Amino acid sequence: MSANMRHDWKHWRLRREDTGLAWLDLDKADASTNVLSSEVMREFARVLDALDAAPPKALVIASAKPAGFIAGADIEEFSRLDSVLAARMLVERGWLLFNRLAAVSYPTLALIRGHCMGGGLELALACRHRIVVDEPGTKLALPEVMLGIVPGWGGMLRLPALIGPAAALDLMLTGKSVDSKKAKRIGLADDCVPARVMESAARIVALGAKPFRQLPAKERATRWAMNGPLRKMVADKARAQAARKVSRANYPAPFAIVDIWEKYGGNALDVPASDPSALDAIFTSPTARNLVRVFHLQERLKAFGKDSDFTPRHVHVVGAGVMGGDIAAVCALRGMTVTLQDQSVERIAPAIARAAKLFERRHKGDAKQVRFTLDRLIPDPRGEGAARADVIIEAIFENLEVKRGLFAELEARAKPDAVLATNTSSLRLEDVATALKDPSRLVGIHFFNPVPMLPLVEVVQGEATDAEVLRRATGFVRRIDKLALPVKSAPGFLVNAVLGPYMLEALRCVEEGVAPETVDAALVAFGMPMGPVELVDTVGLDIAVAAGKALAGEGAEPPARLLKLVGEGKLGRKSGEGYYRWVDGKAVKAGDEDERKGGLLRKRRPAPPPPIPAGLAERVLAPLLAATRRCVELGVVGDADLADAGVIFGTGFAPHTGGPLHYRDSHGKTRIGAPSGLSDGA
Ligand code: NAI
Repeated sequence: MSANMRHDWKHWRLRREDTGLAWLDLDKADASTNVLSSEVMREFARVLDALDAAPPKALVIASAKPAGFIAGADIEEFSRLDSVLAARMLVERGWLLFNRLAAVSYPTLALIRGHCMGGGLELALACRHRIVVDEPGTKLALPEVMLGIVPGWGGMLRLPALIGPAAALDLMLTGKSVDSKKAKRIGLADDCVPARVMESAARIVALGAKPFRQLPAKERATRWAMNGPLRKMVADKARAQAARKVSRANYPAPFAIVDIWEKYGGNALDVPASDPSALDAIFTSPTARNLVRVFHLQERLKAFGKDSDFTPRHVHVVGAGVMGGDIAAVCALRGMTVTLQDQSVERIAPAIARAAKLFERRHKGDAKQVRFTLDRLIPDPRGEGAARADVIIEAIFENLEVKRGLFAELEARAKPDAVLATNTSSLRLEDVATALKDPSRLVGIHFFNPVPMLPLVEVVQGEATDAEVLRRATGFVRRIDKLALPVKSAPGFLVNAVLGPYMLEALRCVEEGVAPETVDAALVAFGMPMGPVELVDTVGLDIAVAAGKALAGEGAEPPARLLKLVGEGKLGRKSGEGYYRWVDGKAVKAGDEDERKGGLLRKRRPAPPPPIPAGLAERVLAPLLAATRRCVELGVVGDADLADAGVIFGTGFAPHTGGPLHYRDSHGKTRIGAPSGLSDGA
């Protein structure tokens, strides 16, 4: 084998074997992760020149980074793009370069181990073959849509051609990833092999010892049909799928992906400027800029806890209810040993059953992994784990005296350096802390319900909380793959403090006679994941009353209808009725139609959204925006960007706006509070 010493490439390394096979490794200089920066792409063109000059028998492209194959285009560069022309050039460069790769005369193969995202997958798609390494870290995706853009370097052309348009559009419209086994199953990869044989497998396939993968006859037929009349049908179905989740006005990219596949052969450069799917429209949309902003905000949250080398092995959770049970399950999923304490085994059992279901889903039915994870989750009615744990999390009833008693006891038994944390939503950390001999040991670790779904966790610093305790708590949150947001102890911290007034305003609208369906539709059209009235029903009306009192003070009167419903035992989703009636875990809204067969409910067809009065969304949002601002002013959260990050990841606040304060500053200010603002989706 001869290393190619003649080349002065910074990022690529070419080795030629005596067999005639060439290995091209990407090892982006001064970076732990491979990204396709302009420099890497420019150099890749020179690599192709060199290969043209002396064509190998076959080429294998791989990564020299342990972190993975290629993470995608360089988002930093992308964020700095200052003109439509620059954006066009960026797309054009990748499109042409990968077309060139796809057209080389020798067989090419991408050997994919670890993440293979965006531009990285587009490079792999331009190779003739792909082999994926069978490891949990191997993930393939075209997540451009999450940044508000489209996979313009050939993804929209080659992915549908390879795996069929329906599957490809599904992946491109959701941005979701596939693992190595699925990549093989859907035909994205030629083969899925263990790491120890990956090189020989790549060599055999690249050198042509293995025939080109033949698609099953049925798939061939489907693909052929895609070039005919079925194409429009598939495109319309994908559009409808996208429209069920988002609106074209808020999120143009998924709709553009469908258009570009259907009408322009996957080539974004061919779309005329007058078309709403034109690159210019996509790149100049505030959505793309705001989603990149959200990406950076997320990176900022991910970095919290990096400065801690705390590696907790054992977590003890007290309280196996809604929160404690799920917190314990999430920690076990992340490889920690967890002891779960409650007043009796009977109270712990439902949490273990729920955890087992979660493990099944997360391990995709891998019985051995499910078993191992369950083995790490240990029912502990006597609380023996407290003495050995590195982190102790309390999630018992919201009762100050009981919590104080518990912490006094826990402090006496815990290891001296164990983190002592409470999950309380509404009690003052300081009131709990004084039960400890050393109040500086107590920190808040505030999860959101449902814990396995929601990415944010507030790490609460009480007046006395020690800085090192805070650092460790944040490090722990990072270790369980949640986004830690540092907040100061204050009523509702950040997330509940902004949600409370928002939900209250929504209920006031209902009180004034606006239908709950209309209020919810207005906010969903704005881009919220769920309407605020439905949210109140989901959280529980009793909790809403208590939270309202805690946040607004005893003087503030909750809406009369809310009190009436609570009085009647209508607590929302959990009791089957609140503002809505709940069937099979779903709110039944006026106009929804049940499709029944043989007396059984088959499907519920949601009613079309009702007409929305102008300014309704703005009215309901105004208190949320004001509360977010207040949290920044009071120092509950570090700065405006962190507040936006917290509200987006803690509540699902419309990401395409870039967050509440960004929205308010960029264009909301003039509208909010004005009697006739824009009418969202009306
Ligand atoms: P829950 O009522 O579902 O569960 C509480 C559990 O604690 C029960 O199983 C109970 O048997 C157990 N428990 C009570 N006293 C105990 C003791 N002395 N020793 C051992 N176990 C004891 O309550 P949930 O909803 O899980 O809330 C727990 C905590 O989490 C509360 O502080 C609440 O403010 C907070 N929280 C709740 C959220 C929610 O959406 N439910 C969200 C975020 C925080």
